[in-house]
Amino acid sequence: DADQRERRIDTALAELGDDVVILGHNYQRREIVEHADFIGDSYQLSTEAANSDAEYVIFGGVTFMAESADIITDDDQQVILPSMEASCPMAGMAEALQVDSAWAKLTAATDDDVIPICYMNSYADLKAFCAEHGGLVCTSSNAADAFEWALERGEKILFLPDKHLGTNTAYDLGLEDDTLVWDPWADDTEPEAIRANDIILWEGYCQVHERFRAEHVEELREDHPDAKVIVHPECRREVVEAADRVGSTADITQAVENADPGETWAIGTEIHLANHLDRWHPEVEVVPLCGDACMDCNAMRQIDPNYLLWVLEELVEGREQNVINVDPATADRAATALDRMLEL
Ligand code: 13P
Ligand code: SF4
Repeated sequence: DADQRERRIDTALAELGDDVVILGHNYQRREIVEHADFIGDSYQLSTEAANSDAEYVIFGGVTFMAESADIITDDDQQVILPSMEASCPMAGMAEALQVDSAWAKLTAATDDDVIPICYMNSYADLKAFCAEHGGLVCTSSNAADAFEWALERGEKILFLPDKHLGTNTAYDLGLEDDTLVWDPWADDTEPEAIRANDIILWEGYCQVHERFRAEHVEELREDHPDAKVIVHPECRREVVEAADRVGSTADITQAVENADPGETWAIGTEIHLANHLDRWHPEVEVVPLCGDACMDCNAMRQIDPNYLLWVLEELVEGREQNVINVDPATADRAATALDRMLEL
C-alpha cells in the first residue's frame, strides 16, 4: 500500500544518501514532488542537476528533460528516468529525421538564410540539428530573445515544434503578419508562402495546453471577477489574449508566490502545478482555469511513485535501471545549441 511504499522509498533514500538527488518538474504528481530535492521548470532542473555532486540524478519529468540533464551534467553522473514511457508527445511531433527532409524542402523554396530554433521541448538530436544549421534552443521565457538573435543572423526563422509558442512570440515582437504555420507535407502553395513569410512555424502543439479555450477564461471571470488569469505560452493565441499574463511554469509559480494574501489567481497550465500552488500557498486563492475539465499531462503521469521506488531499490542493490544516455556526438552538438541560448 501507499504507506508501505513511502517507508520503502525513505529507507532506500537513507541508504543512498548523497549519492542521489531527486528532481521534480512542476507538473509531477504530489507523491513525486514530495520526495524531490528540487522542484522547478525544465531548464531550472537541468541546472540543478549540473550543480549537484550526486552520482545519480533521478529525474521526475519527461524524456527530453532527462536528456537535457544528461547533456549538462558531468560524465560521471547518471541521469535516471523512472519510466521510459514518459515521452512528451509534442517533442515527438518534430523528429530530427522528418525535420531534415523538411529542411531540404524549405531551403530549396527560398534564397534567404533560415535559422532554426527549437524549443526546449524537443529531443537531443533536434537540438543538435539546430546547432549544425546555425541555430539555437530556447525556453518559453526567452523565445523572443532567441527570435531576435536569429533575425540578426538570417532573414527567416524555422521554429519548432510548438506553433502556439511560436505564434505568441511572433505577436510579442509584432511579427504576426509575417508568420506561416507550415505543414511540410501539404501539397498547396508552400514555396510562395515560404517566400512571403519570415517566421515559419512547425505544425506542432501541446495537447494539454491546446485544450484551453477563450471561453474558459470568460467563464472563470464570471465566477471570479477579481481573479488574475495567468496562462502558459503553449496555449492558443486567443487564450493568451484573454488572459492577464503569460509565462513559463517558473513564472506562474512566481506570480502566486508574489501575490498578496487574499488575491485570486487562475492558472492556465497542467493541473498538477495548479494543485501544488493551491497547497503551497493557502493565503492565495488558486483556481485551475478549466474548472472540472482535466488538463492532465499523460506523459508526466507515467512517473508513478512505484517506479520511483523501483529505481531507488535497484540502485541500493547496485543495479542502474533506465539510465538516459545521449550519444556523445549528439550531446556535444546539442550542448552548442544550449550554450547559444545561455549567451542570449
Ligand atoms: P516549462 O519549461 O515551463 O517547465 O514547461 C515545460 C512543459 O512541458 C510545458 O508544457
Ligand atoms: Fe509535453 Fe504538453 Fe506534457 Fe508539457 S504538458 S510535457 S508540452 S505534453
